[in-house]
Amino acid sequence: MSKVTVIGAGNVGATCANVLINEGIAHEVVLLDIKEGVSEGKAMDMMQAANILRLDATIKGVTNDYSATADSDVVIITSGIPRKPGMTREELIGVNAGIVKSVTENVLKYSPKAIIVCVSNPMDTMTYLIHKVSGLPKNQIIGMGGALDSARFRYYLSQAMGADYNDVDGFVIGGHGDTTMIPMTRLAVNRGVPASQYLDKETLAKVAADTMVGGATLTGLLGTSAWYAPGAAAASLVRAILNDSKAMITCSALLEGEYGEKDLCIGVPCILGKNGIEKIIEIELNDEEKELFAKSAAAVHKTNAALPC
Ligand code: LAC
Repeated sequence: MSKVTVIGAGNVGATCANVLINEGIAHEVVLLDIKEGVSEGKAMDMMQAANILRLDATIKGVTNDYSATADSDVVIITSGIPRKPGMTREELIGVNAGIVKSVTENVLKYSPKAIIVCVSNPMDTMTYLIHKVSGLPKNQIIGMGGALDSARFRYYLSQAMGADYNDVDGFVIGGHGDTTMIPMTRLAVNRGVPASQYLDKETLAKVAADTMVGGATLTGLLGTSAWYAPGAAAASLVRAILNDSKAMITCSALLEGEYGEKDLCIGVPCILGKNGIEKIIEIELNDEEKELFAKSAAAVHKTNAALPC
């Protein structure tokens, strides 16, 4: 039976926990927050919903009690402050780095073998920080950004094409930032037919631009960072891990020479299974995409350099 811990019972963490039990992805979920009562209350609310929905999973909320998270198979870290309208994800580094570092240390005390999924922003840099703090094998640490950005890309593609969103496929590589994402328009398809056969160059460029600021658009509308798709995206990684599905999902992974880059975490297509990131897929990029990837990596390196530790 699988046990999953979600650290942070804010909008993203709570949504992720809710998807995990509603979709039958995890059997036992622990929701932990530093704020007294919040995780307990949200977990109790979800257990009451579970009764209505006749689910088969349990969720327990705890205030900062990491012993309750012991022996988790997967731990999702959503801790930290979300961005406000007008802010970039990178601006959150000062506050969130300290939080993510201490959360990682606490998680490791009780679940040293867990696969860690990082959601906290700036996501690529926080994933890199978890590597540095934990010293865990690189397959065990996964950044969520690409799964979310790819979902937003497919949403904008389906809207522009007037297509069923389940028929549309496409993915985003690069950093999880407004200027660092690389929506792979060249490889986007509707039921195997290239998106370029439905959409002209300008429209495809607009789809890419809308995708890149997809999070900022929602932050502008909501007054805070989005949560339904981020929570579902994190849960989708857990599903691939616990089902050992070998799904190819774009995740922030530690590169050691792949795509000509090293010593950073950035979004690349990964095969996910019971061991976490089981393989990084090196797709062939054209010259323009190679240049964009190098620029994106340089920007992520720059944010990493601002880490206090
Ligand atoms: C977003 C946050 C989770 O893109 O980074 O909505």
